[in-house]
Amino acid sequence: MRLLQKNIDEIKNRIDIVDVISDFINLKKSGQSYKALSPFTDEKTPSFFVVPSKGIYKCFSSGKGGDAISFIMEYDGLSYTEALKYLAGKYGIEIEEREFTEEDIKAQNERESLFIILNYATDYFISNLRNSDEGKTVGLTYFKNRGLTEEIIDKFELGYSLEVWDDFYKAALKQGFGEDIIEKAGLIIKKEEKVYDRFRGRVIFPIYNQTGKVIAFGARTLKKDTKQPKYVNSPETEIYHKGNVLYGLHMAKGPIRKADNCFLVEGYTDVISLYQVGIENVVSSSGTSLTEDQIRLLSRYSENITVLFDGDPAGIKASLRGIDMLLAGGQNVRAVVLPEGHDPDSYSKELGGYEFRKYLEENAHDFITFKINLFVNEAKGDPVKKAATIRDIVESISQIPDPIKRTIYIKESSVLLDIDESVLMTELNKIILKARRKSTPATEPPISIMADAVIGQKLEEDVSDRLNAVLRRKEREIIRSLVRYGYKEVADNVYLYQYLFDELKDVKFFTPVYEEIYNIFKDRISKDEELEAGYFLEHGSDQVKSEIIDLITDKYVISDKWRDKYNIWIPKEEEILSSKTYTDIERLNFAYIKKLIRKNLNELKNAESKDDQQKYQIIHMELKKTEKKIAGVLGIVISG
Ligand code: UTP
Ligand code: MN
Repeated sequence: MRLLQKNIDEIKNRIDIVDVISDFINLKKSGQSYKALSPFTDEKTPSFFVVPSKGIYKCFSSGKGGDAISFIMEYDGLSYTEALKYLAGKYGIEIEEREFTEEDIKAQNERESLFIILNYATDYFISNLRNSDEGKTVGLTYFKNRGLTEEIIDKFELGYSLEVWDDFYKAALKQGFGEDIIEKAGLIIKKEEKVYDRFRGRVIFPIYNQTGKVIAFGARTLKKDTKQPKYVNSPETEIYHKGNVLYGLHMAKGPIRKADNCFLVEGYTDVISLYQVGIENVVSSSGTSLTEDQIRLLSRYSENITVLFDGDPAGIKASLRGIDMLLAGGQNVRAVVLPEGHDPDSYSKELGGYEFRKYLEENAHDFITFKINLFVNEAKGDPVKKAATIRDIVESISQIPDPIKRTIYIKESSVLLDIDESVLMTELNKIILKARRKSTPATEPPISIMADAVIGQKLEEDVSDRLNAVLRRKEREIIRSLVRYGYKEVADNVYLYQYLFDELKDVKFFTPVYEEIYNIFKDRISKDEELEAGYFLEHGSDQVKSEIIDLITDKYVISDKWRDKYNIWIPKEEEILSSKTYTDIERLNFAYIKKLIRKNLNELKNAESKDDQQKYQIIHMELKKTEKKIAGVLGIVISG
């Protein structure tokens, strides 16, 4: 199994080395480059440099250097492919990797046929609109009355399906298409041996995939007061999955990248109208609520989304859920509400391009502010409602994956809601911790123990220097939190040390000095005695002493990138403790499991009896399963 070259290219195109490395260590800007303490050695003065213009890093104390991909490999002990997959996950790039089976090839042929017939249908419907009397007087007149220009009608390949039971069906048969494929394409409906055109008597909006191929149609009736639905759309087919299509994206992706923003509207006509007034970075979800696939799709082109809401409060509240999903996808969401009774189509026509643009610029609020404003008036003077509003807002904020952004929003909400920041922060931490504990099976034994049991061997034996170094760094992070913040409350009545002990159970640390510190801590706690750093300095071995000094003087520095970007408050490490610690534990587990997999594969290679081979194969599968699970939690995509 290999990654496709086009995916590799796409990943490489998206990489910003500063952004990538900032996820792991704190870079400080220094002239044209960035610097930091080397993550690979225990140095005291920074000798780790990143040069964004060249896309490389160089660590002078360890001699290591390379691009963003090799940094990930080095730092997290990943293979080249795994590092690429991690980056694909980070940037929301969908990757394909599989070998084709015979069935795939058959399906491939069917897909090809579907593309061909939809292409034919598109031309056919256009020709109806342009050349038939009915098409001209009914369809074209309708579009013109709605103010669409010739150019736009052409550009969106709008068409018309005649008010005849089987006009298209007959034409397609005559053209040589089999009934089977016409039906599979969703163009006809068969009922009791009779065949009807699905879209008869409607104007046609072709729906495209990202590469601009027609994959479906939306068709609008022109009759008023009928019992029929306003729009009839193609059913799901081999090539059309409603949930991962965004109308307009094939044309909008360039403009979205360029503007680094995407307008999200509800309908086909909204997209077309905005396009006509010169706003080309616009897509629509076709009236349904957003799906995660659509969000991932959008995030390939920009992290910034501006949602246009019709001016109707009930409608707005109904679509808020979908917006929380955008936040969870890591996007920066802004919202604009249009005046009551208007949708983007009608309002852009009323104002014209210039004024409409101005309206959007002046009325776009970041989503949290927007949501607070939406609820805050209702909640005034009603403490119960206010509490509900607060929970709702904090719930939204908790969806945002980036702890720094979360903190910024908490700050902002504190001002708008007139509530103490620390109250909101505590509430936030509770929600996050709860959600995370739910999403991981805390009942499973820690991996180190499980692996010891299955493999029946000790972990300390060397596997490779690189994996060991990774593991050591992850252990250090955990111990550092324990020593510095062990007595911090991370949830109601839960101290960080309790959380750690609980999660780690009887883990055996691989690095002796961390094992020692961990045990001293545990011992004191079990005797119900508080522990301060000073205790270690008096009672620990020399190694423990020097390590402790290192740990407590090690500063957590926030990168200047953020400070510059937001020019406001920066979160303290204490405030993101619960989420940070949780991730640290999973990272540690991930490092363990990688080591175990490597080790087990060695055993497998050297196994002599069939029984042994089988045993190690089973272990391998178990380990890979667990690896996948943790990787999922960490947002890393892994192979095999
Ligand atoms: P709207 O009712 O807002 O339609 O539905 P519209 O796009 O503004 O159309 P006009 O302006 O009345 O011509 C928004 C979207 O919801 C989907 C369509 O994708 C539509 O564009 N929809 C709506 C359906 O799929 N079926 C329907 O019956 C109604
Ligand atoms: Mn409309």
